[in-house]
Amino acid sequence: MPLCRYSGKLTLLGTGRSSSTSTSISQSQWLMMHVSMMVLGYAALLCGSLLSVAVHSAKKHFMVGQRYYITSYTAKDTGGFELLFGGLWLVMRIRNLKFRLLSISVEDLKVAATNPPYFNIKLNAQVAVKNTNFGHFKFENTTISFDYGAAGAGAGVGVGVGDAFLDKGRSKARSTKKMNVAVELNSNNIPNNSSLQSEIESGFLALTCHSKLSGKVQLMKLIKKKKSAEMRCAMVVNLVTRAVQDIKCQ
Ligand SMILES: *[C@@H]1O[C@H](CO)[C@@H](O)[C@H](O)[C@H]1NC(C)=O
Ligand SMILES: *[C@@H]1O[C@H](CO)[C@@H](O)[C@H](O)[C@H]1NC(C)=O
Ligand SMILES: *[C@@H]1O[C@H](CO)[C@@H](O)[C@H](O)[C@H]1NC(C)=O
Repeated sequence: MPLCRYSGKLTLLGTGRSSSTSTSISQSQWLMMHVSMMVLGYAALLCGSLLSVAVHSAKKHFMVGQRYYITSYTAKDTGGFELLFGGLWLVMRIRNLKFRLLSISVEDLKVAATNPPYFNIKLNAQVAVKNTNFGHFKFENTTISFDYGAAGAGAGVGVGVGDAFLDKGRSKARSTKKMNVAVELNSNNIPNNSSLQSEIESGFLALTCHSKLSGKVQLMKLIKKKKSAEMRCAMVVNLVTRAVQDIKCQ
């Protein structure tokens, strides 16, 4: 296997001329050593997995040729290489992310069923980015848009009533990052002829929110892949109890 034999040359990278001035290994040398060690590691893994495939197909051919060996072979010889290959796949596979609304509460609320009807609502929301990858997920600035009119009594096309802004950040490998966002909603863009007045009179205001979180999953400093996750929820603001209820997310 020529791929495996190449590893002999990699020692050139790190140990070139640092033995006499061992205290002052420069950062770039350190980086080179680090990278060469990683490349070595990946080369070993790659060799293992190639070997595993080779062994597997060779075994199959052998079994077809000599049928009577099948029973004694399959029982004991599902080798460690396959385990390695499976493990590699498990670690390197890019999984989907989840972007969720965990909770939402009313901070302040001003509402009037006058003509024109009016509301101004301050909400605090907690959202989470769940990352099940074996590497971190770095996401960009994200907007969560709230709409009136896309759900509930007068369901139709939604009208924007406010946006929440989420700063860029990162969700560590195999973890969930929770974030708090505040948002102020108002009825300024809602047309006069909507059913807002009757909704306010009933004491229940139906709202929706939606957002798309975009970013990159990075695996072991080598692999980067663009990924995004969407959130789409409907909710009802109870104007009497000042609570958000019936939160339903897709
Ligand atoms: C992200 O948001 C912050 C403040 O919320 C802003 O300063 C920054 O410029 C934004 N970055 C991008 C790429 O839009
Ligand atoms: C909506 O109603 C208010 C008060 O009745 C009025 O001042 C405003 O011009 C109306 N807007 C539209 C777009 O009809
Ligand atoms: C409200 O008025 C707009 C025009 O101002 C119209 O396009 C829309 O269909 C009306 N909606 C309803 C529910 O009557």
